Amino acid sequence: MVSGTPTQRIMALDPGLKLGRHLRFDWFDLTDVDRIDFPEGVESATGELLYALVSIARPRTILETGTRMGIASRYLALALGDHVEDGLLITIERCGYCFPIAAQKFREQGFDDIIWAKQGDSRSFDPTEAFPDGQTKIDMLYLDSEPQYRYEEFQRYLEYLSEGALIVIHDMVSLHCRQFHGVPEWLQPMIESREVSALSFPTDSGLTVMQYRRKDWEK
Ligand SMILES: C[S@@+](CC[C@H](N)C(=O)[O-])C[C@H]1O[C@@H](n2cnc3c(N)ncnc32)[C@H](O)[C@@H]1O
Repeated sequence: MVSGTPTQRIMALDPGLKLGRHLRFDWFDLTDVDRIDFPEGVESATGELLYALVSIARPRTILETGTRMGIASRYLALALGDHVEDGLLITIERCGYCFPIAAQKFREQGFDDIIWAKQGDSRSFDPTEAFPDGQTKIDMLYLDSEPQYRYEEFQRYLEYLSEGALIVIHDMVSLHCRQFHGVPEWLQPMIESREVSALSFPTDSGLTVMQYRRKDWEK
C-alpha cells in the first residue's frame, strides 16, 4: 500500500527537487541553469492532475514529448505503476544535457520498467521503435516540448492514437490561444465533426486535454 500524494512520493524519491505549485520559474532541480535552454518542468498542481487523469483513463501506453528532468514523467509513471498493468511511458528529449540526468533519475528511482526514454527529436521520432510488438497504439499523448511544435507533434502521432486517446497539451490555455497560433487547418474539421473534443483548464501555465474519436465511434 503506497502512502502520500504523488508529489510527496516524488519528493521522497528525489529530496533535492524543488517543486513549485503554480508559479513558473520558481523551481528547478539544477544549480547550473545556464547550461540548459529551458529551466522549467510541470508545476505540482498539474502533475497531480496528470496523475489523476491516468488513474481514471488508464492508458496503457503514454507518449511524452519534452522529458527535461523527468518531473511530469515521474507523475505519469507513478500513476501507471499504481493503476495500469504493464503500463508504458515513452518519453523523448532532444537536449543532450537534460536527457542523461533524467535517464539516471529514472534508473536510480526504480522507474526503469515503466519508462522508455530516448534522446531525440519529437518531430522525427518513430514511436514503433518503443512498442514491444511494433503495433501498440498510444492511449495518451502528453505534449510538452516547445509550444510551436505541439500541434505538429499531435499531427505526427495521430496515426498511432487509439480510439478515445487523450491528447494533453501543456501551456495551452485554450484551443485558440495565440501562443499556439490558433487551431491549425488540419485540426479544424476534426473539431467540427467532433472527432476531436477539447477541455481547457485555467492552471497558471494552462493545460488543454483533447480526446480523439474516430468519426464512426458510436455511444
Ligand atoms: C517544458 S520542458 C519539459 C518539462 C517536462 N515535461 C516536465 O514537466 O518535467 C520542454 C523540454 O522539451 C525539450 N524539447 C524541445 N523541443 C524538443 C523536440 N523537438 N524534441 C524533443 N524534446 C524537445 C526541451 O529541451 C525541454 O527540455
